[in-house]
Amino acid sequence: MSDAEHPLMRSYGRIKSRPIKPRQAALLDSLLPAIRVPQAPFDPRALMPAAREVWVEIGFGGGEHMAAQAARNPDVLILGAEPFQNGVASALRHIDEQGLSNVRIEDGDARAMLARLPDAGVKRVFILFPDPWPKLRHHKRRLIQAETVAELARVLRPGGRLRFASDWADYVDWTLERLTASPDFRWTAERADDWRRPPSDHVTTRYEEKRLGDCPPAFLDFVRI
Ligand SMILES: C[S@@+](CC[C@H](N)C(=O)[O-])C[C@H]1O[C@@H](n2cnc3c(N)ncnc32)[C@H](O)[C@@H]1O
Repeated sequence: MSDAEHPLMRSYGRIKSRPIKPRQAALLDSLLPAIRVPQAPFDPRALMPAAREVWVEIGFGGGEHMAAQAARNPDVLILGAEPFQNGVASALRHIDEQGLSNVRIEDGDARAMLARLPDAGVKRVFILFPDPWPKLRHHKRRLIQAETVAELARVLRPGGRLRFASDWADYVDWTLERLTASPDFRWTAERADDWRRPPSDHVTTRYEEKRLGDCPPAFLDFVRI
């Protein structure tokens, strides 16, 4: 589908790179259908009635952070979205190997999944090292746009949290501008270390380790007012 036909401006690059290993391909066939998020509007609490909270990770890449958080928080349901097939396959391997039963996956655009979620049902959202789209003409592809901020505000419950991390200075500024302009969010930082140091519950991600950006990683935590 061309960008012109696509209802959402594409915010991601490749959806497939190297061939998927046979074991991961088998998980795409067997495990993914069993844990794919419903494709019609749904109440996430119905997916795991015993869940204490519902968290969302947007663009989980290889799924290391998502799986580690799911393992640490077995009473939390995590909905992860990622259109990159190799990433989904890798995440399935982590879920399978660790026997995680509290993860559901949208193997596509997170914004389509958000649109199917009810209001105020999510406690935390993670957007970690999103595609930076550093060229000016590509800024419109960035995931953080006024529309996404409004949608995140809709699905997060009051007191809910959004964590954004990036090692691209311009994207950090861009996100701060948009989130502080929103009446629905408050940036929680009180001192520079609050955004310069990884939060205590952070799990280092694969992209973070690559240090591809132009500044040290910055971690922005916002609370839904
Ligand atoms: C730079 S990678 C970072 C991956 C991972 N968070 C990490 O830190 O290792 C950004 C990821 O976001 C995904 N992505 C981009 N747009 C997305 C969207 N609209 N919905 C879900 N994932 C998206 C990309 O496919 C890519 O895997």
